[in-house]
Amino acid sequence: MSESKIIRVAALVLSDSEGRVLTVRKQGTSRFMQPGGKPEPGENPAETALREVREEVGLQLQPEQLIPMGEFSAPAANEPDHTVVCHNFRVTFDAVADDLLDQLRPAAEIAEIRWIPLEQLKPAEDVAPLLSEQVAPWLRAERSRAARQQLLEQLGAQLPVVAAPMAGGPSTPELVIAAAQAGALGFLAAGYRSPEQLAQQIQAVRQQTSLFGVNLFAPHPVPVDREKFTSYAEQLTDWAQRYESLSGTDEDDQVKLPEPREDDDAWAAKVQLLVENPPPVVSFTFGLAPAQDIRGLQQAGALTVQTVTSVDEALAATEAGVDGLIVQSHEAGGHSGTWSPQEWSPQDWPARIPPAQPGLLQLLSQVRAATDLPLWGAGGIGTAEQVKDLLHTGAEAAVVGTVLLRSDESGTQPAHQQALTQLHRETVVTTAFSGRPARALVNDFTERFTASAPLGFPAVHYLTSPLRQAAAAAGDPEGLNLWAGTGWRHARPGPAAEILRDLSDQLSL
Ligand SMILES: Cc1cc2nc3c(=O)[nH]c(=O)nc-3n(C[C@H](O)[C@H](O)[C@H](O)COP(=O)(O)O)c2cc1C
Repeated sequence: MSESKIIRVAALVLSDSEGRVLTVRKQGTSRFMQPGGKPEPGENPAETALREVREEVGLQLQPEQLIPMGEFSAPAANEPDHTVVCHNFRVTFDAVADDLLDQLRPAAEIAEIRWIPLEQLKPAEDVAPLLSEQVAPWLRAERSRAARQQLLEQLGAQLPVVAAPMAGGPSTPELVIAAAQAGALGFLAAGYRSPEQLAQQIQAVRQQTSLFGVNLFAPHPVPVDREKFTSYAEQLTDWAQRYESLSGTDEDDQVKLPEPREDDDAWAAKVQLLVENPPPVVSFTFGLAPAQDIRGLQQAGALTVQTVTSVDEALAATEAGVDGLIVQSHEAGGHSGTWSPQEWSPQDWPARIPPAQPGLLQLLSQVRAATDLPLWGAGGIGTAEQVKDLLHTGAEAAVVGTVLLRSDESGTQPAHQQALTQLHRETVVTTAFSGRPARALVNDFTERFTASAPLGFPAVHYLTSPLRQAAAAAGDPEGLNLWAGTGWRHARPGPAAEILRDLSDQLSL
């Protein structure tokens, strides 16, 4: 069951000796009482109220002036995991209203002061919605302050490993829940899913845990060249004959392959869904999320994390205001999050060797020197030793994907899991399956098409989709996108929780 976090606040009602309650309208905000922030350690709510009213309104009050008016609790606005417990106090001044106004006026930002009769104030009902709204910005500010030091601790994770988002099946709600049960943050992968499917997955996870994140493909169109697309579609026609389900279905025995299809993976609808019902953390890959969407998600209460693959991307993401970075190296399995896929174009690689790229530790130390944001490292991790090295290089956590592909809770295709046991294989970076560079185990498909596949995501992804589905149905690993990072030989079966705990090897946050 999800655990609610308690935020204690103190609310102060100022009333005059005639029993009238003070309404103070500060510029831009409306408040008829002063909500205190979370008490400092060792401070009680009454002290918080006094401190806040001194700092906010400029009034020096004495503890004996506070009259307790009881407590209430309410869910915080947009923060289903947080409950606001409010301690109400009233202060009655000996002075009549006008004297009190004079005391308050020097506080220059106060634009308007009004009085309402005390009887009109029903504290619990009136204060609950107001405070639950007012707590949200405070909570955000508090989170972003803490985010500069730690992301995972705030999220309630205990292990310095994160279960990576893996679209296309492997990341199931069960995998994310299993990670949470081990104390590790796990991500749902929104890519290729409809907003409705994503909402269902989020709901399934929320029923079990509040420790999870959601990953989105950020809009970063790489439109396909029409001619190259057609030529690639023709090359694939032969390949399609391999599968009974795809061959000989057309009138003239030709296999139909789709027209180029471009889309943005329903970005706006997914962001809206997450703003309306924010998960604790949202991560983006493939491109920089638009700044207004980053802000919108943060204002809704989610932390935001951007995948970067170079120092330049890290600087741009820092500038855009995200709360943390996933530093992903070329060793990672699956798609690279690069914002410059054209630099990976396989036609330009001598002997299919991708452009020289720093390994994870080197990339992480370069990014560490360029930004103060919390960093999580991703790419090729398969052992606890590697996790330790990464943490020593300045990462807060290791993000692992491939090593979970054979875990009990993953939804990886059986043929893919089987291929991961065939230790003679190697990995290659290829655009053959999707038009975006991705690291996969070498198979017949990558051997045949890596050199000629065009760039163009998601058009090439949709083009090869029926072929990959047919390969999966036939249990044929030679036609599947066998995403795998360089640490793939460490992928083993078993409970994901155990794999994540072993990788943490007694390290905790
Ligand atoms: C099967 C698979 C699917 C992936 N899908 C996504 C995805 O949807 N979104 C994303 O940000 N990263 C995705 N990745 C990359 C991972 O998030 C992570 O960066 C990578 O797995 C780390 O490297 P490793 O696989 O060597 O551990 C995927 C990786 C794999 C192996």
